[in-house]
Amino acid sequence: MKVTVIGLGYLGATHAVAMAELGHEVIGIEPDSKKLESLAAGILPFHEPGLDAALPKAISSGKLTFQSEHNENSASADLHFICVGTPQTKGSDAADTTYVVAAAKELAKWIKPTAVVAGKSTVPVGTAATLKTAMTEIAGFEVHLAWNPEFLREGTALEDSLKPDRIVVGTWSQHSVDVLREVYAPILATGTPFLELDVPTAELVKVAANAFLATKISFINAMAEVAEVSGADAVALARAIGYDERIGNKFLRTGIGFGGGCLPKDIRGFVARAEELGVGSAVDFLKDVDAVNLRRRDKVVELAKSELGSLTGKAVTMLGISFKPDSDDLRDSPALEISQRLTALGAKVTVHDPVSLTPLATRSPELYREEDLLKAATGANLVILGTEWKHYREIDPIEFGKVVSTKTIIDGRNVLDVPKWQAAGWRVIALGRNVHNG
Ligand code: UGA
Repeated sequence: MKVTVIGLGYLGATHAVAMAELGHEVIGIEPDSKKLESLAAGILPFHEPGLDAALPKAISSGKLTFQSEHNENSASADLHFICVGTPQTKGSDAADTTYVVAAAKELAKWIKPTAVVAGKSTVPVGTAATLKTAMTEIAGFEVHLAWNPEFLREGTALEDSLKPDRIVVGTWSQHSVDVLREVYAPILATGTPFLELDVPTAELVKVAANAFLATKISFINAMAEVAEVSGADAVALARAIGYDERIGNKFLRTGIGFGGGCLPKDIRGFVARAEELGVGSAVDFLKDVDAVNLRRRDKVVELAKSELGSLTGKAVTMLGISFKPDSDDLRDSPALEISQRLTALGAKVTVHDPVSLTPLATRSPELYREEDLLKAATGANLVILGTEWKHYREIDPIEFGKVVSTKTIIDGRNVLDVPKWQAAGWRVIALGRNVHNG
């Protein structure tokens, strides 16, 4: 099938490569010339394991080509995926749909009447209906618009795209269902559930899923707050409740909380949209989910102050700065915000991260960057583990202890073998665990 993928950020670039891997003829459309040039040269402009190797393969197979805007070639496609971003609006919690609206309107000038348009971007419920009206008016015929949310996670994006838990489509026409079934046929052949829904439900599935995931994380982090003042251990608690199959043990890792380009802005956007619809109170609890999450960052700043007293001139080493491992994404990263706040309080924060130091240089140049782990920790008065890269689990606390000034570490992700670190003379402050008293 001939398809276009409009917008080549994390979602679009991954989806374009995935579609090429399924054997389709894919045209990636991206107006940002820097991003486009990089992708066309087979170089992924961000870190994503597996996708970096799959991209040049897709290009050399001839299945994936790129262009900066629509033309006769892309106009002949049978299916167009809209993958542009919906960031948080500046100065508001609402999702900014400007790019989706612009992409849909531009596409409407080019598409053929039988083409299907599948929106994959995360949008406020009701967006697709507005887009359909606008596109139909511009195209001069009823556009086959569908909503087909994407559930990929950074770090495992390609794998998630090719082996999803489910494929969700919201449609207004049987033709859209047929075309989407056809494009995903190789995935469906493996038994992947295909859910045919109405459009508002399909739009809601995505934000509801992210809201649920965020709630799970904040639930366990709320328990961590209670554990911290009652002598309990939130990690052991998560394990104990997780054995109940109705609760499950996933997404109950306590620590400095969730960040990234999706969960934080999606829960805020959801609240804003529900308020517009007059049902704000239904999802009011998501404000608490957000607040619990942000309080974990405050907690680390408070811990640093109580360990170091005045932060002026104190050397702090941050291990990991991306919002999660296997990603160089710094959007709303808890480790980044903590580093920036400690710097603002006078600390000299040196960051180590396996892949994120280059984007960090642009994003937050006031932070010191060090590629060598031992050099990054040399002279540190305090070490904070901010991202659970496997590199940090493998640190030898004895060797590591030789370079720092003070053997104190805040385990912001609860991944360290605490007794082993304590045996090497470290004071370990693990969020939600009280182990520093032990
Ligand atoms: C999230 C969803 O998991 C995807 O299903 C969704 O498709 C994606 O957003 C999106 O909307 O595009 P992602 O942002 O890549 O994916 O990252 P997650 O794996 O969800 O992790 C989010 C944050 O939660 C990270 O900062 C992670 O460290 C944190 N987290 C995760 C915890 O603090 N505890 C946990 O138990 C799990």
